[in-house]
Amino acid sequence: MTQETAILSAKPDMGVEAPPVRKVFVKTYGCQMNVYDSERMTDALAKDGYVATDMVEDADLVLLNTCHIREKAAEKVYSALGRLRDLKSRKASEGKTVTIGVAGCVAQAEGDEILRRAPSVDLVIGPQTYHRLPQALKRVERGERVLETDYAVEDKFEHLPAPDKARTRSRGVTAFLTVQEGCDKFCTFCVVPYTRGSEVSRPVAQIVAEARKLVEAGVREITLLGQNVNAWHGTGPDGDKWGLGELLHHLAGIEGLARLRYTTSHPRDMDDGLIAAHRDLGQLMPYLHLPIQSGSDRILKAMNRRHTAAEYIALIARIKAARPDLALSGDFIVGFPGETDEDFEDTLKLVETVGYAQAFSFKYSTRPGTPGADLEDQVPEEVKANRLERLQALLLSQQNAFARACIGKTIDLLLEKPGRMPGQLIGRSPWLQSVNVDAMSSQIGDIISVRITGAGPNSLFAEVVS
Ligand code: 5AD
Ligand code: SF4
Repeated sequence: MTQETAILSAKPDMGVEAPPVRKVFVKTYGCQMNVYDSERMTDALAKDGYVATDMVEDADLVLLNTCHIREKAAEKVYSALGRLRDLKSRKASEGKTVTIGVAGCVAQAEGDEILRRAPSVDLVIGPQTYHRLPQALKRVERGERVLETDYAVEDKFEHLPAPDKARTRSRGVTAFLTVQEGCDKFCTFCVVPYTRGSEVSRPVAQIVAEARKLVEAGVREITLLGQNVNAWHGTGPDGDKWGLGELLHHLAGIEGLARLRYTTSHPRDMDDGLIAAHRDLGQLMPYLHLPIQSGSDRILKAMNRRHTAAEYIALIARIKAARPDLALSGDFIVGFPGETDEDFEDTLKLVETVGYAQAFSFKYSTRPGTPGADLEDQVPEEVKANRLERLQALLLSQQNAFARACIGKTIDLLLEKPGRMPGQLIGRSPWLQSVNVDAMSSQIGDIISVRITGAGPNSLFAEVVS
């Protein structure tokens, strides 16, 4: 029955009740895919009357969208659950019910344990079943404690609602769009293949429809997401096999879509079509997050990365030949089991050779169930801490040097949001830096030409070029 026929068939004195307005507070941990998933979950709950709140005290439903990538990330979830238990009992004494749900990769990896350790949790839902969230909440309302961590047979994305125009607009002029999920690479340190499952690519038509919706709602820049985004593959409308390069070409044709990015990539999947896209597409920003994790071939092998440091360096040279202004970002792990001082020196050497505009570095963290957890020769904590400090000092100096080198350049800036001072906006450079500039809020969404005048610790300053 459509909504219209429901209204016509309702008795006049009964009317048709809209679902009661309820508030959902979502706390997102971890990567951009979790940010995207949190938005999709909020969208899926809207038809049951849920509106998002950023005040946890006001919420009828609290969802923690969790991350399991490193030990610390998972620990944070349990301490947050402790605070929520107190909130729940305080509200109960006022006669209010607060439902607590745990989503994301900790939910997938430790669902049973969460239910055991945290009795205040009503619902545990893994990333592959988010489309079942509304039904799962109905089961909670009927008094069940729900665990939904099976891999769904149906297509999650087909059952999740498309991004809503008003909510997309309120989220700003940049958006994430998941095109690929899961991973088949099985790097020996990584939980992703276990928490997100095996590699799945969304079909072209689904991606294009979602991208169009985002652009209609005012989005100017889309970042395509995937744990291994450049492993994305599909079939084009012409029946040809497409890789990410062809998909980017197609999306670049959407009127009004000014910028494209993608993350995270694996060096093994940077194919010729994708490199050509960097050469041919003005909309594809000259910034690439291409993690290597270590500069030592011995450690790369132990990590099952399936390439050498020299191959990575040669690959970067090829991409830069296609797009000379390309800046790089990366991820590094120090203290993988068996990493010697010499191996670590190789990482520092690689960083010197490549030169990163930005990078993320972490101490190796043992993840239960991964092959790395069973390796002997775990590196002592203080050695890891010392290596991390040295690596981060080098990466920070490169980041600062990259920022300083931008001073004096004229660049395109996508104006995103209000700045710290009235009359200022913050925009994004092509290389993902935050840039402060004098501009009016009516200009949010515009791309303007600015000259970089200075560099602070976390952002750049610029003046408008007339
Ligand atoms: N320990 C430390 N860092 C890790 N990463 C993934 N797994 C681990 C782990 N077990 C880092 C990698 C990856 C990034 C998302 O997180 O650098 O690229
Ligand atoms: Fe994890 Fe490696 Fe897959 Fe990246 S490529 S998600 S690091 S297993």
